[in-house]
Amino acid sequence: MHRETVMTSADLIWPLFVTDGTGVEEPVASLPGVSRWSVDGIAARAKEAVDLGIPCVALFPNTQHDKRSEDGAEAFNPDNLMCRAIRAVRDACGSDIGILTDVALDPYTSHGQDGLLDDHGYVVNDDTVAVLVDQAVNQAEAGADIIAPSDMMDGRVRAIRMALEMGGHHNVQIMAYSAKYASTFYGPFRDAVGSGGLLKGDKKSYQMDPANGDEAMREIALDIAEGADSVMVKPGLSYLDVIWRAKEAFHVPVFAYQVSGEYALIEAGAAAGVADREALLMEKLLAFKRAGCSGVLTYHAPLAARILNG
Ligand code: PBG
Repeated sequence: MHRETVMTSADLIWPLFVTDGTGVEEPVASLPGVSRWSVDGIAARAKEAVDLGIPCVALFPNTQHDKRSEDGAEAFNPDNLMCRAIRAVRDACGSDIGILTDVALDPYTSHGQDGLLDDHGYVVNDDTVAVLVDQAVNQAEAGADIIAPSDMMDGRVRAIRMALEMGGHHNVQIMAYSAKYASTFYGPFRDAVGSGGLLKGDKKSYQMDPANGDEAMREIALDIAEGADSVMVKPGLSYLDVIWRAKEAFHVPVFAYQVSGEYALIEAGAAAGVADREALLMEKLLAFKRAGCSGVLTYHAPLAARILNG
């Protein structure tokens, strides 16, 4: 009766990795228990999500290497892996599932950066925004419900919102990765989408310094003013203070991304006998809700849903 925070399977978003082919399941070595699935398998996972009461899946493509280029043009091919996965999920689940799609160029570029590079290898903001707009509209046309720009370029939320309106996609939401830190915890994700080996340097010229909290508030304020429907803090657990401050200051839906490295640490801790895996997981997920989150993106979503559903 005195419990202040309740979590249910409706608070979960399940990130899924898409790969080419049919009937393919490729385990991701650095994320034990997580696989890349071909489009048919993604549709099956989405059905599983519906059955478990998980309201939304987030899709990430492991683009074939010969389709990656300097300019990431595959991102706006209407028949790319992402668009095929969106359509397959919609065919399998209708409107029973929300489809969230990631906007950033890293799964499509030959250099693994989220944007376009100048001659010195610096990621250029405004030219990148123009390409992200095309990528977002492409995903909306394929049927995405929520566009989630994870690139951290300035001004992209407004540009994407305007393009969605012009294209008639009035009901497509934007969940902005507003406070995304240049984190060491993304390593296994980069293996999963195949960008890790390609990436030269780091992403510190556009992702945030882990030392900064006030800057996160400025980033969030900008994205809300530009038209974001909800905002995200990423990674999750090391940034609970940022989640709390965001909720207190802006009163908008705030989401946390429990990122790949966080997932891997739970698995490694459990395997090393630190504590029970399910107990470790559920305590961490509850902390996000206590800090003010409306929901959490987690690779543990199906396990957490099973536990929450009893
Ligand atoms: C791409 C993107 C990243 C993640 C989500 N979208 C990686 C990065 O910025 O390098 C990380 C997710 C995870 O680690 O689970 N821009």
